[in-house]
Amino acid sequence: MTDLTGKVVLVTGGARGLGEAFSRGIVASGGKVVIGDILDDEGAAVAESLGDSAAFVHLDVTETANWESAIAETEAKFGRLDGLVNNAGVTASGMPVADEPLETFERIVQINLIAVHKGMHFAIPAMRRAGGGSIVNISSAAGLIGLALTSGYGAAKWGVRGLSKVAAVELGRDKIRVNSVHPGMVLTPMTAPTGIVAAEGAFPNNPFQRVGKPEELAGAVLYLLSDEASYTTGAEIAVDGGWTAGPSVEYVMGQ
Ligand SMILES: NC(=O)c1ccc[n+]([C@@H]2O[C@H](COP(=O)([O-])OP(=O)(O)OC[C@H]3O[C@@H](n4cnc5c(N)ncnc54)[C@H](O)[C@@H]3O)[C@@H](O)[C@H]2O)c1
Repeated sequence: MTDLTGKVVLVTGGARGLGEAFSRGIVASGGKVVIGDILDDEGAAVAESLGDSAAFVHLDVTETANWESAIAETEAKFGRLDGLVNNAGVTASGMPVADEPLETFERIVQINLIAVHKGMHFAIPAMRRAGGGSIVNISSAAGLIGLALTSGYGAAKWGVRGLSKVAAVELGRDKIRVNSVHPGMVLTPMTAPTGIVAAEGAFPNNPFQRVGKPEELAGAVLYLLSDEASYTTGAEIAVDGGWTAGPSVEYVMGQ
């Protein structure tokens, strides 16, 4: 079991889906979590269910002032900031490059990439004050391969992967590690209503032929937040049921 005793982690988009699973995992591992989200009621309810080891802050990741107050509130409440999970995001438009409206592309990049930079910008000084830290940026399988109908989303997720590597090489001397995690298709409120995921969870594009559960993503994130990952930075971890490992057997064998 990963040990996060003494660690204080800010999770964006922690009110539901993957962020909720990460937040619950952090507390179960002995850490403290601050959940930042625009879903105030849902986020506060998750924090309340986790007791004294959790708190909720209203955080729209695109708003600079929200970031400043979220970091300040985290340090005021728990005394330090050791970890940041940049998880908040919105889904792809489902439109081809030529059809995705310019403002849709820009909005997706604003939330899924520019806000990740914003979070790092404000978290890094706090981590320096704490003597080091770990930043886990949630990218996607769409940040490892070119996935059709995801232009703004795919561009942002590739950007998150690149930004993570740049920061990793810059911040090693500050003992701040930066890594990206790349989920495959996971059943969350983001994917459930879209029809991308069949009700029974079948997903033919990976070797397991099924979608993942949010809990199956948490292990990688908790590991990267912990001291067990003390020599891991600039890495990209795909937790995608093998989706991006290569074409399916059926495709290769023509069966
Ligand atoms: N579910 C998947 O299959 C999948 C696959 C690959 C990557 N991801 C990534 O994982 C992350 C979490 O996805 P999820 O499936 O849990 O989605 P979700 O929609 O269930 O949850 C996303 C959370 O982010 C919050 N959020 C959205 N915009 C925000 C903003 N401006 N400020 C603060 N919070 C905001 C939402 O309120 C919500 O709580 C996203 O970055 C997503 O791109 C998900």
